[in-house]
Amino acid sequence: MKSIKTSTFCIVLSAFSATLQTILIAFLNFKINQYFDISVTLLAFFIAFVLNFLILYFIFRNFLYAKIDKLYHLVKSIQAKEIPNTEIQLEEVDSIERLEKGIIKLSHERSKEIEQYNNIDSYRKEFLGNVSHELKTPIFNIQGYISTLIDGGIHDSTINMDYLKKADKSIDRMIKIVDDLETISQLEVGTLELDTETYDLVQQIKDIIESLELIAAKKNIRLQFVRKSDKPILVKADSFRIRQVLVNLITNSIKYGLENGKTRITIQLFDEQVIVEVKDNGIGIDEKHLPRVFERFYRVDKGRSREQGGTGLGLAIVKHIIEAHHGTIDIESKLSEGTTVTFTLASAH
Ligand SMILES: Nc1ncnc2c1ncn2[C@@H]1O[C@H](COP(=O)(O)OP(=O)(O)O)[C@@H](O)[C@H]1O
Ligand SMILES: [Mg+2]
Repeated sequence: MKSIKTSTFCIVLSAFSATLQTILIAFLNFKINQYFDISVTLLAFFIAFVLNFLILYFIFRNFLYAKIDKLYHLVKSIQAKEIPNTEIQLEEVDSIERLEKGIIKLSHERSKEIEQYNNIDSYRKEFLGNVSHELKTPIFNIQGYISTLIDGGIHDSTINMDYLKKADKSIDRMIKIVDDLETISQLEVGTLELDTETYDLVQQIKDIIESLELIAAKKNIRLQFVRKSDKPILVKADSFRIRQVLVNLITNSIKYGLENGKTRITIQLFDEQVIVEVKDNGIGIDEKHLPRVFERFYRVDKGRSREQGGTGLGLAIVKHIIEAHHGTIDIESKLSEGTTVTFTLASAH
């Protein structure tokens, strides 16, 4: 609804009441003098109109608008604090219009906030559900092995050692989940302090490749490191966290890679940025899943991921770490062709 300006409103109301008053005066005049005087009638209308207008304007300005103004400032004080508390003169902007705008704005902001709270709440519920679901599997496994051992299996040399080892493996899995959860919650709450130093990323990648070669060899996957020169590339970063990123990405390329496949790690230095690329020719990810792979617990194929010891938290952690370093991360993939993850770090050159 378009609001009416104070003065227009007063004019209309004054004209209306002045007309009624003039009709009354003209009627009385006719009764008393027995004739109709047009000039007296017009004069009466003019005086009534001016008086009505002045009275109405005075009432609006001093009583009604003082109250509306108070309401407006109350609305404004409820609104975000960053909105400057600029005084607007009554003559400049109509108070009702201003109040109306203020209330509309406030209601928009509040509904946005409510929507955000609802999103956070459903995210929290989903997260709790995921955590308990992830932990349930290893817990039930451990319970199963131990119960069998208690029920006499402990004396059966064909299974006792095997079951204990399996229970131990499930405990390792639980530890991995809890460790990942701890890292992600530290990253999300912002309590994780980066321990930044200047170091050579080339050497770090070489070390990581060496440590993962054995796992890659199981699938006969070749880990290839491509760089323009042998010169060190210095970055200013938390080496422990960046190691976590690289291990996660290269491990993914192996886990979701094909037998006899290849993972190529490229490092390039551009002005103030170091760009690292981890490219594989593995199973790839369908386009529809791509926007969600950085979400906590999101896995394209849950069974396959669990089978490979994945928690679904790897890429979420990776993204948090890179963003904490003010870098960017991007994933490109084509089903049955392969995946490329690229991230940037600030160079220290
Ligand atoms: N290199 C890759 N090739 C194919 N799929 C991948 C690759 N990296 C990640 N994914 C998909 O993204 C999901 C999430 O990855 P991640 O967060 O590391 O969890 P996970 O613990 O399952 O490895 C994986 O479950 C997998 O489906
Ligand atoms: Mg992973």
